[in-house]
Amino acid sequence: MDSSDISDDLTTVLYTREQIAARLAEIAAEIDRDYKDKFPLLVGVLNGAIMVVADLSRALSIHCEMDWMAVSSYGSGTQTSGVVRILKDLSVDLAGRHVLVVEDIIDTGLTLTYLMQNLASRDPASLKIMTMFRKPDAFKGDLEIAYVGFDLPNQFVVGYGLDYAGRYRNLTDVGILAPHVYS
Ligand code: PRP
Repeated sequence: MDSSDISDDLTTVLYTREQIAARLAEIAAEIDRDYKDKFPLLVGVLNGAIMVVADLSRALSIHCEMDWMAVSSYGSGTQTSGVVRILKDLSVDLAGRHVLVVEDIIDTGLTLTYLMQNLASRDPASLKIMTMFRKPDAFKGDLEIAYVGFDLPNQFVVGYGLDYAGRYRNLTDVGILAPHVYS
């Protein structure tokens, strides 16, 4: 789905698919250098990260493995509590592996704060984070993020894995959702 298909639903296109692809190519080049001969394991956090993992992994020039986790935050409404339940765990043993957690977005940072503690306890050789998007105004955690695609304004953003009510994940661009859609 292209932003022109749903232009009434967006107030602003923030990043086009071309800009996202170009930024991913830059990050992939960094990861190629940092993980040369390390056969990294990319851990995608479902559902939002599927686009990033699919595109980042194919932009790499080195071998990598991929695995997936599904988590759910306990909380009321749109508020994240920081308590995370694992709905689907990894299939791969992390001991001795170079693990790169891949996210679509870090907002409050609470999901990853929990997840990183959990993954660190499994004795990986290294554990780092790549996120395509970050909302710095909303970020409350104390996380070291090794690779960041783009910073986003603290608004309701959809596309490239980011959804509203299950929709817009398959939008190739990223944009700000028009208030009439959710009000
Ligand atoms: C999103 C995103 C992160 C989390 C970030 O997932 O993929 O996992 O929220 O938020 P935080 O930094 O405030 O913890 P979401 O729970 O919306 O699920 P989804 O990936 O299936 O859309």
